[in-house]
Amino acid sequence: MKPVEIKPGVYWVGGIDWDLRNFHGYLTQRGSTYNAYLIIDEKIVLVDTVKHYLFDEMLSRIREVVDPSQINYLVSNHVEMDHSGSISRILELAPRARIITSPQGQKGLRGHFKRDWDFQVVKSGDTLNIGHRTLQFVLTPMVHWPDSMATYVPREKLLLPNDAFGQHIATAERFDDEIGWDIAYEEAAKYYANIVFPYGEQVKKALDALSGLDIEMVAPSHGLIWRGFLSQILEAYQRWAKNESERKALIVYDTMWGSTKRIASALQEGLEAEGVPATMRNLKTNHISDIMTDVLLSQLVLVGSPTLNNGMLPTMGAFLTYLRGLCPKNRIGFAFGSYGWGGQAVGEIERVMRELNWQVPLSGVNLQWVPDDEELDEVREQGSKLAEILKSE
Ligand code: FEO
Repeated sequence: MKPVEIKPGVYWVGGIDWDLRNFHGYLTQRGSTYNAYLIIDEKIVLVDTVKHYLFDEMLSRIREVVDPSQINYLVSNHVEMDHSGSISRILELAPRARIITSPQGQKGLRGHFKRDWDFQVVKSGDTLNIGHRTLQFVLTPMVHWPDSMATYVPREKLLLPNDAFGQHIATAERFDDEIGWDIAYEEAAKYYANIVFPYGEQVKKALDALSGLDIEMVAPSHGLIWRGFLSQILEAYQRWAKNESERKALIVYDTMWGSTKRIASALQEGLEAEGVPATMRNLKTNHISDIMTDVLLSQLVLVGSPTLNNGMLPTMGAFLTYLRGLCPKNRIGFAFGSYGWGGQAVGEIERVMRELNWQVPLSGVNLQWVPDDEELDEVREQGSKLAEILKSE
């Protein structure tokens, strides 16, 4: 397996997970990569590793550049096992290597691997001279775990921020401009929505901490390396960290006998009549991790479920549990549904929206049995009112 020299003396030596389709519940329809980087200087540094089952692939790439026994430092930017899963095995081949990690990184690695390796703990602003280069470290807690940190290589103006700016996509190409902005952006947005969304405040702090660095390339631990669309992805992260979205609507729903679907369609018509595009996502045909990308980008979120057994449909329960964990802020919410008797689902959906501190400016639509034309006209009206509210924001 060939490494890729991304900057003079800096090599991508990661692994490509072509077959990955589920990353703890995240549908990875394009697979993923785990990016490890090898820096060749007077001292040899490996930054992060790969999932355990791709160890041989990483090793073969390292061997194309250097004998692994020559590695002096292993920088562990993040403990999660998609990046630490091959540390034990690489240390068997590089027994002199010292692990450079954050204070939480040391705790986490000890907790995961129960080994007392040779650790050097660093904090923000600490440096490590490796010959012609001096690496700098910036702690980026909660982007994605408490231990997360970024490694900066000033000579190459290269930032290695681990999960931040990552995308789950397996490609033969390594750089964003070899694939194009549209796909790189789509996967970066999905990654942010499903992995980083709850930590907007911490992302802002991380972006502030990194803002003083002269950066020409960002090489995350998943997916493509940013060089062609660097300013665009940095701007997108600024927006997402502030919970900024677009003036458009998302309708997420499930249906039993079609009534809730009819209400969803009438809401869509009402929104569109007022010039607000509305994306329809049926939970039966869309994965919740894909819908989260729509949540990231939409300011108005309409959520509908019929009532089943005094509550919402289980598919909606799963979606709302996932949504609550990812904690999107600054959204306008609207609940809708249908019922035969009981009719509790709409209230339950509104409760989740209020827990998330969303604005819920209109009472939800909750219709019994099958909606008639008159009721659907009223629902269209509600859609149009929501469009006006969105436009006035
Ligand atoms: Fe890619 Fe938080 O691990």
